[in-house]
Amino acid sequence: MERIKTGIEGIDQFTGGIPRGKSVLLTGDAGSGKTIFGLQFALKSSQNNLKTVYVTTEEDSNDLFVQGSTFKWDIQSVTESDFLTFIELAGVRARVIEAEININVGSMKGNFSKFLKDLPEDTEVLVIDNIGSYTAQLTPYEFRDRFDLLVYELNKRNITALIILDSATSKEFNEIALFSVYGAIKLMKRENPYTGRRERVMDVVKMRSTKTPTQFMTYEIGEEGIQIVSGMESKE
Ligand SMILES: Nc1ncnc2c1ncn2[C@@H]1O[C@H](COP(=O)(O)OP(=O)(O)OP(=O)(O)O)[C@@H](O)[C@H]1O
Ligand SMILES: [Mg+2]
Repeated sequence: MERIKTGIEGIDQFTGGIPRGKSVLLTGDAGSGKTIFGLQFALKSSQNNLKTVYVTTEEDSNDLFVQGSTFKWDIQSVTESDFLTFIELAGVRARVIEAEININVGSMKGNFSKFLKDLPEDTEVLVIDNIGSYTAQLTPYEFRDRFDLLVYELNKRNITALIILDSATSKEFNEIALFSVYGAIKLMKRENPYTGRRERVMDVVKMRSTKTPTQFMTYEIGEEGIQIVSGMESKE
């Protein structure tokens, strides 16, 4: 099975990467590093000559370039290579919300196909940051329907996708999303029971057909982005 590197060395060494054409869900609290993870993945993929698209729903691409520059990633210049494209949906979101408030058209609600509408035909890797922006007013049933369809379409197009969903979006939606995807990773902050210090940990909740670590992996956001510092041992 062909695998796509995430750009996070610890994960790539352990799992070999994300199976090609599959969708992985990335969840976590505000400030846990979801966007940094997404950018690191997108950068790695584009450097590996995979046609990569980063859909951003909350920040404009310039904010993301600034975030990248704190790690000495020159994302903007990579976009000139043709392998990395940013699609900004922030403005679109504002318009959709306006429309929802004014007319509340059912068909517009959480229609995730907007993520795929402007996607270039030859897209190989996709990051959606973050789908939670589009779940307002959806019932769990509607969410499942639309999320399943999105994953199905991505799979049909053989696109390897990282779908980010924030924790502010209902817990129920987080659980529903977990079932549709091939893999899922959760980012958290917790207190280390031994040292009493707060640390960032990552849980590979699932990754079908893949050897995954059973332990939480401790990670840091350092000079080169996300770095796994411990916990890469498995139970076997
Ligand atoms: N250059 C850096 N060095 C170390 N830590 C950083 C650096 N840049 C950002 N951070 C940390 O990463 C956090 C932001 O990460 P990121 O934006 O990826 O989180 P997020 O999960 O996407 O959050 P949100 O849900 O708000 O979008 C910051 O709050 C900060 O703690
Ligand atoms: Mg973010």
